[in-house]
Amino acid sequence: MDDNVRKNNINWYPGHMAKTKRMMEENIKLVDVVVEVVDARIPFSSKNPYLKRLWQRRPRVVVLNKTDLADEAVTKRWKEWYQKQGYGVTSIDALHGKGMKEVAALAVEMCKEKRARDAAKGYQNRPIRMMITGIPNVGKSTLINQVAGRSGAAKTGNKPGVTKGKQWIKVRGDLELLDTPGILWPKFEDLDIAYKIAFIGSIKDEVLDTYTLAAKLLDCLAKRYPKKLVERFKLSEEQLGLSGEHLLEEIGKKRGHLRAGGIVDVERTAILVVDEFRSAKIGRLSLEAPEEMIVEKKEKEEKNAETEG
Ligand code: G4P
Repeated sequence: MDDNVRKNNINWYPGHMAKTKRMMEENIKLVDVVVEVVDARIPFSSKNPYLKRLWQRRPRVVVLNKTDLADEAVTKRWKEWYQKQGYGVTSIDALHGKGMKEVAALAVEMCKEKRARDAAKGYQNRPIRMMITGIPNVGKSTLINQVAGRSGAAKTGNKPGVTKGKQWIKVRGDLELLDTPGILWPKFEDLDIAYKIAFIGSIKDEVLDTYTLAAKLLDCLAKRYPKKLVERFKLSEEQLGLSGEHLLEEIGKKRGHLRAGGIVDVERTAILVVDEFRSAKIGRLSLEAPEEMIVEKKEKEEKNAETEG
């Protein structure tokens, strides 16, 4: 997969970057608050740093979605981490419509000061305009559909100053939502991040080697959730010391994924492992925690200082 990720960097990323950047810049002028949806299993790796720069002077909301698949205790710590950084933060399960009202309430709350300033200038009662954004597959469309569904998909139609073709959905009296999400590209610079994005299915599976992906995922899970891995795949404690590749073999044997001659069909096992992770059959798992980000940042800074010195 390393080669594939690098290929993506060269062939895919720049074209998308220019187009998405233009689209985001155009839309951002129209909205008061951007809501960035991230995957609760990787709230750092699925968040895009570009938006921070683009959106510096306006209120920002981070929505941790797919909480039904993530480790609850870790999600709580991520909420606190982003809150400390000045974001409005909420965690939701868009698939089951949990937390929808909080997203709307938070978007309005984050614009309170702006509304007060507008009121002082004599602009009364203008609804807050919100845009949903995020990398592919984090649940943007699901969230928009949930929010729109609740309000009977009451589209308010084109208005002066609104990009042609854009529709605003009335979420509640004081809030409108742009009906098209802002799609951001994932961060590929760092291989660890690229793998995590691939684990959650935000990089198309066809461009990746599923065998390597599943082996990397098992390496990661053996460190973070050894008990859950042992339980799900009926492994022994000793086997946890094996590499991801060897774990795949063992799981394949246990599941009876055998080809003629008794050879383990590891490709089949790889698909199974990735599927079982994505559907939370192994359990509710988070692949990164805020404390690690602090350590990682410190290590990178130290490394940079060493190279400079
Ligand atoms: P996007 O617009 O950001 O690209 O994401 P989208 O809403 O299309 O959602 C991607 C997949 O994630 C969908 O699954 C959707 O049902 C699922 N999803 C969204 N929110 C949640 C959530 O809170 N919890 C869970 N468990 N799943 C969620 P899909 O249609 O089956 O697509 P795929 O997973 O086969 O790609």
